[in-house]
Amino acid sequence: MPAIAIIGAQWGDEGKGKATDLLGSRVDHVVKFNGGNNAGHTVVIGQPDGTSEKYALHLLPSGILSPNCTPVIGNGVVVDIDVLFEEIDGLEARGVDTSKLKISANAHVIASYNRALDKVTERFLGSRRLGTTGRGIGPTYADKMNRIGIRIQDLFDEKILTAKVTGALELKNQVLTKVYNRRAAEVEEIVAELLTHAERLRPMVCDTGLYLNQALDNGDIVLLEAGQATLLDVDHGTYPFVTSSSATSAGACTGSGIPPMRLDQVIGIVKAYTTRVGEGPFPTELFDESGEHLRTVGAEFGTTTGRPRRCGWYDAVIARYAARVNGVTDFVLTKLDVLTGLEQIPVCVAYDVKGVRHDEMPVNQSDFHHAVPILEYFPGWTEDISECRTFDELPANARSYVEAVEKISGSRISVIGVGPSRAATIVRHELL
Ligand code: GDP
Ligand code: IMO
Ligand code: MG
Repeated sequence: MPAIAIIGAQWGDEGKGKATDLLGSRVDHVVKFNGGNNAGHTVVIGQPDGTSEKYALHLLPSGILSPNCTPVIGNGVVVDIDVLFEEIDGLEARGVDTSKLKISANAHVIASYNRALDKVTERFLGSRRLGTTGRGIGPTYADKMNRIGIRIQDLFDEKILTAKVTGALELKNQVLTKVYNRRAAEVEEIVAELLTHAERLRPMVCDTGLYLNQALDNGDIVLLEAGQATLLDVDHGTYPFVTSSSATSAGACTGSGIPPMRLDQVIGIVKAYTTRVGEGPFPTELFDESGEHLRTVGAEFGTTTGRPRRCGWYDAVIARYAARVNGVTDFVLTKLDVLTGLEQIPVCVAYDVKGVRHDEMPVNQSDFHHAVPILEYFPGWTEDISECRTFDELPANARSYVEAVEKISGSRISVIGVGPSRAATIVRHELL
């Protein structure tokens, strides 16, 4: 049975959490396969009495909110154990059952020295900073690649854990004290920190790759939910202004242990405009009242850090790139409602780089920094679309906008978001 990936097609915060939640009742397992608590996925669930419940998930897959779903944290994730239990306890206090959660024995652990290093490195970089979330994500993935990382399974053998922490700190403490003038981390302190929740963690830990492949053998549906997005992917994003993991569909395989041939569908989530948090190039970014309008109406403030998101028009070059890199089979176009009231809606169809037209992402990063969007303008609409539930109910100009965007984005637009809640959705082609 199918494995399906949900991927961010821009710079994050496209509405992956809502899309995952939308499919949650129809899938058996939802896997987070990359990133850590740098992610922030907001899910709004309407209640029978007309009110709504809002959840902000960072480390747990959004599928944890779907009662029949088994949530899985895959081997590609970096886990801050304190955050994990804070999030679990917060959800349990609100009546969400988290008891089925499974965590890969091979996932890496974010130690406090890596949180410290993330923050001091950013401070040290000054104007060259990346604008990270400061959660220790980059240094923890760097340790993984340097083969000095701590894995979840290490927490169940104190002797091995102590040896690994000692090895890691030999170098880290040199850097902390001599480069950054910080206090050295003590091995015993770090080991004690890491072991705090080990016994609570133990029953959740397993070989999640084996578990997921057996689930697929048994005919279950597995949904792989990305953190971050294509343009933040360490290989395919706007390097170095990226996160440190593989957020694309290929990462869904390495980060879960599900082989590529078992991936049947790749759902790309795109906003009807573009946002970005942190530093780095962003060709369609707006610095005028239009940008302010998108930020205010779209409530574009980070779920994790609360930072205002940078806002700009829809960029079809990026969408085509994401479609290609991920093999997107369907797009979910979110936040169409945020465009309501604009007289005309610009869309970036290509870039001008020093007088040369680029229909695809420039090969050279510095060209991307200088890319000037070539815009086409589409007429807007004023009608409230948040109650529309079929494509035909949308005003003609909203339909034309979606059709125009679909034509230049590299894959069909199967679902349209017209509001934050699960119900505020138009399905043009069923995803499952
Ligand atoms: P994620 O990181 O990709 O899961 O996205 P975030 O949750 O960080 O940001 C998306 C925000 O947009 C959340 O606050 C969602 O509740 C909200 N949202 C998702 N889809 C829609 C939509 O179609 N319309 C509106 N107005 N809000 C949406
Ligand atoms: P979701 O899953 C938007 C950005 C940070 C920074 C860069 C590197 O909610 O879409 P990191 O802490 O990962 O080393 O920071 O990546 N970033 C995100 N931006 N949405 C996210 O996640 C992000 N996760 C990281 O702002 O620019
Ligand atoms: Mg987010």
